[in-house]
Amino acid sequence: MTTPYYQDDLVTLYHGDCLEVTDWLTADVLVTDPPYGIRWSGVANYARGERQDRRTQGNEMPIANDGDLTVRDEVLAAWGDRPAMVFGTWRRERPRGTRHRLVWWKRGQAPGPTRSPFVLQDEEIYVIGGGRPRADSPLRSVLSTEESRSRIVSEVGHPTPKPVGLMETLIERCPEGTVADPFAGSGATLLAARNLGRRVIGVELEERYCEVIVRRLSQQAFDFSALEPITPEVRSSGWPHHDDETGLFKEWAS
Ligand SMILES: C[S@@+](CC[C@H](N)C(=O)[O-])C[C@H]1O[C@@H](n2cnc3c(N)ncnc32)[C@H](O)[C@@H]1O
Repeated sequence: MTTPYYQDDLVTLYHGDCLEVTDWLTADVLVTDPPYGIRWSGVANYARGERQDRRTQGNEMPIANDGDLTVRDEVLAAWGDRPAMVFGTWRRERPRGTRHRLVWWKRGQAPGPTRSPFVLQDEEIYVIGGGRPRADSPLRSVLSTEESRSRIVSEVGHPTPKPVGLMETLIERCPEGTVADPFAGSGATLLAARNLGRRVIGVELEERYCEVIVRRLSQQAFDFSALEPITPEVRSSGWPHHDDETGLFKEWAS
């Protein structure tokens, strides 16, 4: 049995390859953001005519196993037909068994330098598998967040952190039980599950990101503002606009 890298009453985090460290398979719900299989390189350095990541300054991919969809699909095959919410991009095949698709609209994302006539401002979230999602009121399929993406990246210390409030919204719609995130990254799923009082099991391949997760979990334990409750009325009104600075929902469209 693998020893957890971190553990508290609700959170268990393993450092390792989720295809080898498989304790997460004992969970009830999968909520995860795997490598998208797009060889994402972070920042396009058009001035030099090449794509280069500012953080790695080289050819190394900022997200491990992002060369194709193999690791995502192996994880989903191991998970089977149980309830899952999985992030992805329209540029690659949706996972088998996708029953519904949500859109995460990154309203706060600045376009940056580009020659393209279009700015990609959204990612997809696939609802997969059996189980009855909890739905006091239906969630609209476009979930929008307002935070500055570049600021959250540098503050968190991971290239692709998801907003914790967004992860809370998703987890709340999932069936009861322990949450699994085998691609934990900077720990947004772990923080969100713990905020909601749910057990969660995470795995992260890179130790530098495990360190980020532990730092965020320990900071959050003392950050009572981040735990301020969102009222049930607000939660059920259906169109969340998250403010990542406060962790609270900011504005609500009718
Ligand atoms: C898109 S990121 C997840 C970001 C995360 N949702 C967040 O909010 O920070 C995917 C993560 O999966 C990790 N990863 C890639 N292959 C893995 C594997 N085989 N086992 C565990 N983690 C893996 C990467 O190191 C990366 O941190």
